[in-house]
Amino acid sequence: KSVVILVSGRGSNMEAIVKACAAEAWPARIAAVVSNRPSAEGLTFAQEHGIATAVVDHQAFESREAFDAELQRTIDGYAPDLLVLAGFMRILTPGFTAHYAGRMLNIHPSLLPAFTGLHTHRRALEAGCKLAGATVHFVTAELDHGAIVAQAVVPVLPGDDEASLSARILKLEHRMYPSAVRWFVEGQLAIDAGGVVRHTGGE
Ligand code: GRF
Repeated sequence: KSVVILVSGRGSNMEAIVKACAAEAWPARIAAVVSNRPSAEGLTFAQEHGIATAVVDHQAFESREAFDAELQRTIDGYAPDLLVLAGFMRILTPGFTAHYAGRMLNIHPSLLPAFTGLHTHRRALEAGCKLAGATVHFVTAELDHGAIVAQAVVPVLPGDDEASLSARILKLEHRMYPSAVRWFVEGQLAIDAGGVVRHTGGE
């Protein structure tokens, strides 16, 4: 299977997926890492690991539609079976999400449907949540609303701030996102026409 990963910044989830793919000999290759930001730190890791990289700078486009069209053209050059959003910070147009329906995953650092959008850790702390976590989901046109694939939970501890809580959640993300991608490339994960997730795999 061919996997393309989209990043906008640090790329630590992308790194976890690249490493797991190699270490666990998945039936897949990471065909490319694509960023909307030329300075995304994740691009360096990908290049150092012999993975093709591409940049489609959103600032060079007049509309979301024009940006997404070029992004799609670039991605489809790698013929992906799966598109993985890993800290990709652009809202996607309905045409783009429809094109990759059933083959695009995202990870979000909250227990969806709570705290969609930005500043999830701060908002969970402000709400006094005792539990927080992360969600892997299929991507649909509505931001952070696609069918849920996996969730995992961490405690919110006394004295936590955004940095400590996000670090605890990020560790969890680095375990759960590679697992979910592995399920997909091994043919154990799919979504049916009604938007229901089918997962036939193990842990
Ligand atoms: C992660 O917390 C992810 O859940 C969110 O953006 C962050 C990306 O971090 N969507 P990284 O670029 O993978 O390090």
